Amino acid sequence: MQRNSLILEDRPINHSLSLTDSHSLPEEDKSVLQIWGGNPLHGHVKISGAKNSALAIMAGAILCPDDCRLRNVPSLVDVARMSQILAALGLKIERNGDTLDIDARHLQQSQAPYELVSQLRASFFVIGPVLARLGAARVPLPGGCAIGARPVDLHVRGLQAMGAEVHIDHGMVHAYVPGRNPKLKGAKIYLDYPSVGATETLMMAATLAEGETTLENAAQEPEVVDLANFCRAMGARIRGAGTNTIVISGVPNLHSVDYPIIPDRIEAGTFLVAGAITHSEITISPVVPDHLTAVIAKLQDIGAKVIAEEPNCLRLVPGRLRATDIETLPYPGFPTDMQAPFMALLTKSEGDSVITETVFENRLGHVAELNRMGADIRVKGKHALIRGVSMLSGAPVVATDLRASAALVIAALAADGKTTIQRLHHLDRGYYDLEGKLRQLGAKIERVQDKTDAGVEADQTLTAPSQILTPPQMQS
Ligand code: EPU
Repeated sequence: MQRNSLILEDRPINHSLSLTDSHSLPEEDKSVLQIWGGNPLHGHVKISGAKNSALAIMAGAILCPDDCRLRNVPSLVDVARMSQILAALGLKIERNGDTLDIDARHLQQSQAPYELVSQLRASFFVIGPVLARLGAARVPLPGGCAIGARPVDLHVRGLQAMGAEVHIDHGMVHAYVPGRNPKLKGAKIYLDYPSVGATETLMMAATLAEGETTLENAAQEPEVVDLANFCRAMGARIRGAGTNTIVISGVPNLHSVDYPIIPDRIEAGTFLVAGAITHSEITISPVVPDHLTAVIAKLQDIGAKVIAEEPNCLRLVPGRLRATDIETLPYPGFPTDMQAPFMALLTKSEGDSVITETVFENRLGHVAELNRMGADIRVKGKHALIRGVSMLSGAPVVATDLRASAALVIAALAADGKTTIQRLHHLDRGYYDLEGKLRQLGAKIERVQDKTDAGVEADQTLTAPSQILTPPQMQS
């Protein structure tokens, strides 16, 4: 969705960042996933902590001039990247299993490095807490990404409403609070669109502002609520998170906290879809079923049953799959992050379905790849028309973004023969050990080094040039 936007620069992405600390990242992406379809799944999957909560809450830890302990933090490339950004700002970070200790006592740097921000869109969110604590912040424009232009105008306008001077120079957003006492001021802010990131940036900024801030038409996503709960656990005064009006009364200081991240509703939904397409009975936990209401409703529509076994455990009971229509919307509507996995499912559902993507303008990159596997999908603008087929066939395919990768894995599980998926760096950004978890359920899946030229060949012969040229790594 393209809205009034600040200018985004089309600058090259730096792939050669050297990564030396414990949060190491893969420098190259030479592995591929091989999946042999047709094996039924069974058993239980443990759902990891929510990526999009973890990223926002890590930024939120900047607000605290003390130690924060985060639990249930998923071990993902995006989390490692966010750790590096915090480290570049002067924070100390230590990872121990799924616990992350963040010490923001020595926040010294107000400037986030371009090489890091350009690789992780969510890192732009640090602008709010850095500005709130230091009175100044300089963060590069994150730029567009594989799924859309993704401007940051709503973040910037909200900060301006709170008294910040903001200007953009050579792709760098400079924000500062003028005057001797560089404190943001509470304001009434109406968001043109309930942006998750803008709601999070402004809510964080407002926790330490003077006076009361009201965010109207705020995002209601569970990750926004998780961030609000984290801030409240540090002493922030926030009410209304989870509704479209959030009111934040600024406090002078926040304190240390020990906080568990909520389970990842998108990972949970991905496994439910994997169960449905392979006609398998599986259970998943921990989950918050309320976070999955729209996803569960669509699964039931399509013919699968989802039963609450326990308050935090769901059982997927497969059924005969039939077509449905889906429109992605801000929460509590159907999540855009589940659009690609559901499209994979609908390729094998009886009848014609329509998926309408309203949140991002370029999030249908998986269509060409699913068609390569025998699906029958046509795209018209933001609509995808899916005609159910009786069989998918394994094929070499290329992941175009994070959730597109998940869609290809799901289709491959139900396809006849072997599928090889390239560009796994997308998958590794947001799913912790997807192949390990699927293997445990009985899927035949392995990650191997791509020693042949197959990767290059597939890129050259099978993928549209626009897909190859899109900077592949930034998304969250
Ligand atoms: N938008 C604007 N101006 C702004 C901000 C957003 O026009 O200032 C537009 C965007 O371009 C987009 C729409 O508003 O078209 C929605 O963007 P939003 O700000 O809500 O998304 P986000 O904060 O950038 C988060 C998640 C995404 C998820 C979306 C929507 C994180 C780190 N990322 O992005 O997650 O799809 O909300 O729910 O929280 C993913 O996990 O695969 C992923 C992309």
